[in-house]
Amino acid sequence: MRIRHVFLSALIPLAASGLSMRGAANVDNIEWNDDRWELVTTQLDQGHYQSRMSLSNGYLGINLAALGPFFERDAPIMGDNWNGWPLFNTRQTFATIAGFYDADDREGGSNFPWLGQYGGDSFLSGIPHWAGLIVKANGAMLNASTSAKEISRFSSRLDMKGGILQWAFDWMPGNDHGNVINVEYEMFVHKLYVNQAAVQLRLKSHRHINLTVYDVIDGTSAVRADFVGKNYEEASPTIWSAVRPKNTTNVTAYVVSTLQCDQYRELGARSEVDEDVFGSTQTSSVGQSVDMELLGGRRVEITKYVGVASSDAFDNPRRTAFAASLAGANAGFFALRHSHVEEWESIMTQDSVDRYNYPNGTLPADPRIQELHVTSVTNPFMILQNTVGPNAIAAAGYNPRLNINSIPVCGLGSDCYGGLIFWDAETWMALGLQLSHPQHIVNIVNYRVEMYPQAKENIKSAYTSSKNHTGRFTGGAVYPWTS
Ligand SMILES: *[C@@H]1O[C@H](CO)[C@@H](O)[C@H](O)[C@H]1NC(C)=O
Ligand SMILES: *[C@@H]1O[C@H](CO)[C@@H](O)[C@H](O)[C@H]1NC(C)=O
Ligand SMILES: *[C@@H]1O[C@H](CO)[C@@H](O)[C@H](O)[C@H]1NC(C)=O
Ligand SMILES: *[C@@H]1O[C@H](CO)[C@@H](O)[C@H](O)[C@H]1NC(C)=O
Ligand SMILES: *[C@@H]1O[C@H](CO)[C@@H](O)[C@H](O)[C@H]1NC(C)=O
Ligand SMILES: *[C@@H]1O[C@H](CO)[C@@H](O)[C@H](O)[C@H]1NC(C)=O
Repeated sequence: MRIRHVFLSALIPLAASGLSMRGAANVDNIEWNDDRWELVTTQLDQGHYQSRMSLSNGYLGINLAALGPFFERDAPIMGDNWNGWPLFNTRQTFATIAGFYDADDREGGSNFPWLGQYGGDSFLSGIPHWAGLIVKANGAMLNASTSAKEISRFSSRLDMKGGILQWAFDWMPGNDHGNVINVEYEMFVHKLYVNQAAVQLRLKSHRHINLTVYDVIDGTSAVRADFVGKNYEEASPTIWSAVRPKNTTNVTAYVVSTLQCDQYRELGARSEVDEDVFGSTQTSSVGQSVDMELLGGRRVEITKYVGVASSDAFDNPRRTAFAASLAGANAGFFALRHSHVEEWESIMTQDSVDRYNYPNGTLPADPRIQELHVTSVTNPFMILQNTVGPNAIAAAGYNPRLNINSIPVCGLGSDCYGGLIFWDAETWMALGLQLSHPQHIVNIVNYRVEMYPQAKENIKSAYTSSKNHTGRFTGGAVYPWTS
């Protein structure tokens, strides 16, 4: 890993051996841009959760494939692609909404099986993966599992000043060196308008190529969720899918995507997508496709404007999600991106994070200090992605229900630990932001206030307390204080 100071023109190489970037597959191919707060990798590592990034705005969260904004399933390593306790489910990209919990008495393990008699557990359910823009050219498909042999000059970039994730590479569909398509994806989950997100695909090639672009909402991520409805709209280039958390009748989530192209007239007719575009058949999957001609040397931009809402925070989630998607398409990618970046810049200000530079701007050579310097930005960014700030709450009409869900252990981009809320939120997440961002961690306090009546109820049933552990673990987690 190297730290790059663009304005100081000083490239500071980091001794990779001295760095312990937990979770990073290979620190040699990662670079930190200290002026732009960007992590850049040039190593494509498909099918491994360690190489997937999540984006969130504290209401919506989504995990993205290594190669692009797609659904991706982990490739087994020594037969293992399972998450641990309590769900033991397949490792794959997840997407959800804050508060989207099911009623569950079957799935996974429990530390307290005797609780089942009072109504079971509640895990965070998924919604369909809404970010995919898949391309078909020369008979080949560009999705999460496209062969790395067809990809060159790969880079992906997380901009932590603007909350933007980008991928750029050359794709040779079908490994045909005569057809090289320059591909760029850029996406964000809007930090101010919590129901909105956008994904832009930019394509360019020297040769004339005919291709198909698929806008997909992939139901494979809608784990522990029941199908409610979906449609391919005729009146606008819009598709939608709706699900509800398992065993929950009063909560529904709507995921809406509206497609636009900067050269819309050049697009062939839109059509509904066959299921074979998706990695697996799921009732809640839906897609639309457009055929287009990529004219040699001309760049084409295709953008999907996503709107998502659930009844956890919105009375009419269908209307809210549709309005968010269509308003996004009306505003356009540039305007939407601008208001998103402006909001992030107002939150992650220069003076809100620790810096370890000498007064002359250079960094101490000690790799441990350099690591602290980088994580002083990445840590608050990751947690602040999972909070809804005061501006966003105001923009949603001072909606109090946006700010009561605390932060699941792995944030909103994963269902690790079943999306449960632990003491981690109070002790490890909130404290780090107490001084710099007190208004952004109110959700952690509000969650306990919200749950207080239930907690008092629980006292009545806890006649034996959680210490009545018979030693019958259904899960794999063995903690010293329970074994
Ligand atoms: C959830 O639904 C299943 C059937 O799909 C049922 O067997 C189970 O008892 C339900 N659990 C709860 C907690 O309602
Ligand atoms: C402890 O829980 C088990 C079920 O796991 C139950 O059978 C047992 O009666 C409980 N013990 C007491 C003292 O309540
Ligand atoms: C692309 O499709 C159009 C219309 O079907 C066809 O006329 C043209 O020859 C195709 N171009 C290439 C490069 O295949
Ligand atoms: C990618 O597309 C190929 C070809 O259609 C398909 O076999 C594969 O399952 C897709 N991968 C994913 C992750 O959707
Ligand atoms: C759904 O019903 C449950 C159980 O009655 C309740 O706790 C919850 O607040 C309801 N959710 C919504 C969004 O109405
Ligand atoms: C910057 O300051 C540090 C600490 O005083 C010093 O060791 C280093 O040489 C200085 N670097 C430059 C480029 O002036």
